[in-house]
Amino acid sequence: MVNTTGLAATHMECRDLPESLAVMTELLLFEKLSEKPGEVTLKHPNTHWLLVLHGAGPDAPAKPMHNHWGVRVVSPQEVDRAYDYLVAHKAQYKLGAIGKPTWSHGSYSCYFVEPGTNGWEIECYEAFNRKQATAERFGAVKTAHWDQLLPEERFPGRGYVPQGFTHGTLVSTDLEVSKEFYTKVLNLDVHRFSDNVIYIKHPNTKTFVVCALRQNAPVFSPNFRNTLTVASKDAVQDAYREFTEAGKTLGVSELFELKETGISASFCFRDPGTNCWEISSAN
Ligand SMILES: [Fe+2]
Repeated sequence: MVNTTGLAATHMECRDLPESLAVMTELLLFEKLSEKPGEVTLKHPNTHWLLVLHGAGPDAPAKPMHNHWGVRVVSPQEVDRAYDYLVAHKAQYKLGAIGKPTWSHGSYSCYFVEPGTNGWEIECYEAFNRKQATAERFGAVKTAHWDQLLPEERFPGRGYVPQGFTHGTLVSTDLEVSKEFYTKVLNLDVHRFSDNVIYIKHPNTKTFVVCALRQNAPVFSPNFRNTLTVASKDAVQDAYREFTEAGKTLGVSELFELKETGISASFCFRDPGTNCWEISSAN
């Protein structure tokens, strides 16, 4: 097993970096941490998970809505106001489809498409969390991911305040095989949500990845990946050695090159469901 220490970052492929960046910062409350050519790292101020945007140009493949990310607000009224605000600013931010808010999987949610074709969800679990017994299900991922609520002044004028960056999505071709891999190879928690969906999370945090059963899903470039951290450069090298020698047996379907700098190392690989992951010693 790789002794992963956290689910540190998720990566989104964009067509036009400034356009996607404007949506993330001005509509979803992400803040810029750093940037380099073709790449911007963002963080939501109330939660730990980093979002890395990769500019891949206008020919980057379109992403289906079942691959999406989500931020959370605290009241259903905020979801309605978010929908109104998105519709009113659709042309300004070059948004794609904006779905009317709906109830599903315990959440009242508004889904929309940002200019790079990636789907986003503004979710609310207020009703789900009213019952303690319900709220604690599935690793408590639907309870608050933050310690303190951000005040409206932090994101004024929109009628909603994203309180945290809560989840991403992946696909699986066999949920039992994926579950075995995530728990026994990557040291992650897996919670069964339904016949077709599992939730994946690192034991240390509530951030979760919804992994849904789908056949013939497209395979995307490593620009679409999730990053797991390990404690040291040595630990990255150990994991790489293990995947090189026994990866096929473990369920690694593709192993990319090991990248090393002076103090850190990282590599990418694909899991049994073809999703791309990164193991890194850098935070
Ligand atoms: Fe979602």
